[in-house]
Amino acid sequence: MKTNPPSGSESSIADLRHADEAELIDMLEKAEQKHGFIPREISDEIARLLEVKLERLRRIQGKLDTTIRRDVQQHVAHWRNEEGNLIMILHAIQNQHGYIPREVAMELSRELGVKLARIYEVITFYHYFKLQPPGAHNVTVCNGTACYLKGSGDLINELRTQLGIAEGQTTPDRQIHFETVRCIGCCGMAPAMVVDGKTCGHVKTSDVAGHLANLRAKKETAA
Ligand code: FES
Repeated sequence: MKTNPPSGSESSIADLRHADEAELIDMLEKAEQKHGFIPREISDEIARLLEVKLERLRRIQGKLDTTIRRDVQQHVAHWRNEEGNLIMILHAIQNQHGYIPREVAMELSRELGVKLARIYEVITFYHYFKLQPPGAHNVTVCNGTACYLKGSGDLINELRTQLGIAEGQTTPDRQIHFETVRCIGCCGMAPAMVVDGKTCGHVKTSDVAGHLANLRAKKETAA
């Protein structure tokens, strides 16, 4: 990449401060394509801004690592002498984060001296543990026998179509988590589903859009 003596304006350099890393690199490439060189003052400023951003990232990462290590050490210390402590610690981690973040699982593996693969074996064996952050809202369809016989399969298909995800997944904007369970104890209301903790009975496929619209409206109100 060639550079050239100063020629850019002050305002263009000021704009760079608001650009993210990808935009900064993109600007360099476009300037080179356009002029056949990069003005020296711009390339120096971009290099400096990238270094500043990198340094900030390192500081945040360092803080994050320290917090994760401290939390995991506390969980391990609390459960160290208990039988089945791995499960108890995973419960504590999930209660804290809402799921089991990968970096926490890695730290736990180091701290307990248990292989990461073994930790993932346990996490994936128990349906309760989650590997993805929970959504802001939850939709749970009961797929127990009574609900199944009353058409829970159609509700599940409707939700799959409307949300564009499968059960056990969260929408890409992390707003709605969708899952199925076996019997929520309201068989007389079959087919039933739970929307953000509220049990809804005798649900029809035509009701699904309304429930989702309400959840999305909550999102907009909160925004
Ligand atoms: S089977 Fe759905 S509530 Fe019991």
